[in-house]
Amino acid sequence: MEPEKIIGAFYRGEPELCRLLLKHSLQVREKAFQIMERSKLPCGRETVSAGALLHDIGIIRCHAPGILCFGELPYISHGTAGAEMLRAYGAEKGMDLEVFARICERHTGSGLTEEDIVKQHLPLPCRDLLPETDEESLICLADKFFSKSGKMEEKSFPAVRRSLEKFGEASLARFDALCRRTGVDASLPPLEQLPEETVAAYLRKTL
Ligand SMILES: [Fe+2]
Repeated sequence: MEPEKIIGAFYRGEPELCRLLLKHSLQVREKAFQIMERSKLPCGRETVSAGALLHDIGIIRCHAPGILCFGELPYISHGTAGAEMLRAYGAEKGMDLEVFARICERHTGSGLTEEDIVKQHLPLPCRDLLPETDEESLICLADKFFSKSGKMEEKSFPAVRRSLEKFGEASLARFDALCRRTGVDASLPPLEQLPEETVAAYLRKTL
């Protein structure tokens, strides 16, 4: 499984957006590895690695000019859009990408319930989109430490927790449960900054 090849198939002609996607995805991957190693969760390292690289592939279909996305869909749909892209790519190439499609569609916030989707009139399928497997939980959580806008610096644990508060108590309770499952708390140290050369090397491999 070569996630760079899949990303390249969709991001050819979009080098700046691809750089941003890769930088964020590599940050999420490193954080996921850090949490995985600390917690000793029985995750497949390959699945976590490819899942982290692919989790936001759907942003290219969404409208978020601040992060160079000029697609049609609302940004909240980037997870389900990514899942659709991976399922279609997998069907065309005879690859089973379902594990990664699920990682995409279940990583928004601390996951979304059918009730969240109905009550907030979100443009998403009316079903639970919650992280269930260890890999889905790990990537959903690692993703919360990084934003794709601004300086893209890692957020502190209290800042991450605060960012979930605005989505209500249920969302925060799910975040806390994810933290318990993965052994994440305020003692988790920040990562060293990702060298720009690492991003540049991935970009060369991808486009
Ligand atoms: Fe992300």
